[in-house]
Amino acid sequence: MFKVVALIADIMSDSNYQSAMTNVVLCIQENGERVHRFLQENGLLETTRKPKSIGKMLALPFNLQVNKKDLEEILQDTFDFEVQIDSIELEATETSNNPHARLHRAVVAWLSSQQMLENESENMLSDLPKKWQLLGDLVILPEAAFISEYWREIFNKTRRHERDDFWFNVAKALGGERLARQHPIAKDKYRSSQTELLVGENGWVEFLDHGVKFGFDATKVMFSAGNVTERRRIGSITMDGEVVVDAYAGVGYYTLHMALRSKAKHIHACEINPDSISGLSWAQEANGFEQSVTVHSGDNQETLPNLYGQADRCHLGLLPSSEAVWDHAIRCLKPKGGWLHIHMNVHKNNLEEWTAETLETLEKYAGSHGRNWQIKAAHLERVKWFSPHVWHVVLDVECKEHS
Ligand SMILES: C[S@@+](CC[C@H](N)C(=O)[O-])C[C@H]1O[C@@H](n2cnc3c(N)ncnc32)[C@H](O)[C@@H]1O
Repeated sequence: MFKVVALIADIMSDSNYQSAMTNVVLCIQENGERVHRFLQENGLLETTRKPKSIGKMLALPFNLQVNKKDLEEILQDTFDFEVQIDSIELEATETSNNPHARLHRAVVAWLSSQQMLENESENMLSDLPKKWQLLGDLVILPEAAFISEYWREIFNKTRRHERDDFWFNVAKALGGERLARQHPIAKDKYRSSQTELLVGENGWVEFLDHGVKFGFDATKVMFSAGNVTERRRIGSITMDGEVVVDAYAGVGYYTLHMALRSKAKHIHACEINPDSISGLSWAQEANGFEQSVTVHSGDNQETLPNLYGQADRCHLGLLPSSEAVWDHAIRCLKPKGGWLHIHMNVHKNNLEEWTAETLETLEKYAGSHGRNWQIKAAHLERVKWFSPHVWHVVLDVECKEHS
């Protein structure tokens, strides 16, 4: 048993000092953050190797979860700038800085303390989770983490406090204090989180996202880390002096960024889920937005009519579609017009057609309310792949009076 532990430790300390040929994605430095984030969020980043600058280019290591040709195609579909796949020598990351190595070490140490480290453990250890989400001090593992037959047997043989000890060590290795496991988002009207707490007293999390304070119960409410680029993009649009309606505010994913970074004068945040409203109200106070954000609790079919004619901008952030409120959103805009940000899941081959159809529908609604506007698509943002071939997009629409 001791031998296996020593072997694993050897492999890891050896690789610590060596360079090795590694598969990389090459892009220009200024696009590096976006590509890095994409690889990380999709569990494709090879964290045992260090990224490398080569002149104006950045080489980001990827693991072989996906073959090179498929990855090349996905990257081409994802980004509107050039990326290449190559193989170059990269140095290893220091083991202590690498959460995958820390996780591996923690699991080996626990198995060993339970006298359960067998030869076949090595296979199982190559199957440890490759990605996770960290919200405050809560680590959220993917649904499939530690549920194989191997782990089921191990947990069956252990007592409660030993399992707690295991989960706690996993949390620590990944930079947290508490641990949870994700389950699919509920198909209820709230799109509730069904995250299962594995260790910790409760699921309340607090953290900073681009300078904005968030707080909510992560076992009850979902937070899509994958939308970070969109939160940043929305926050960087100037909304100085504007009144904004956020029709699906959640815990303030976009509301808070628009209030702090876009400098909107006032945001009407509509939300139906009491658990999300708790988070939203907490954030309203924590960020000092009592004057600039009004929370409208309830179904937006009922709250939006109270806001007709008041907004310079409406944000419609519901997937797979926010179409249920397009008519309301048109009516919420001031008579002179304004902006809409429409979230939607759209097949990659259907983007142009969907954009054209959406504008047509909006024109129809505007016309039926006597709003003689020019309605045009200013930008289509591809936020992330929702599923293979389906993009989560945001269409920025400008509505203005004909000159
Ligand atoms: C999916 S969340 C927003 C998630 C966000 N886009 C992100 O980045 O994670 C959508 C929110 O809309 C709320 N919602 C759904 N239907 C609603 C309705 N009819 N009226 C008001 N809020 C609603 C849900 O409770 C949820 O908090």
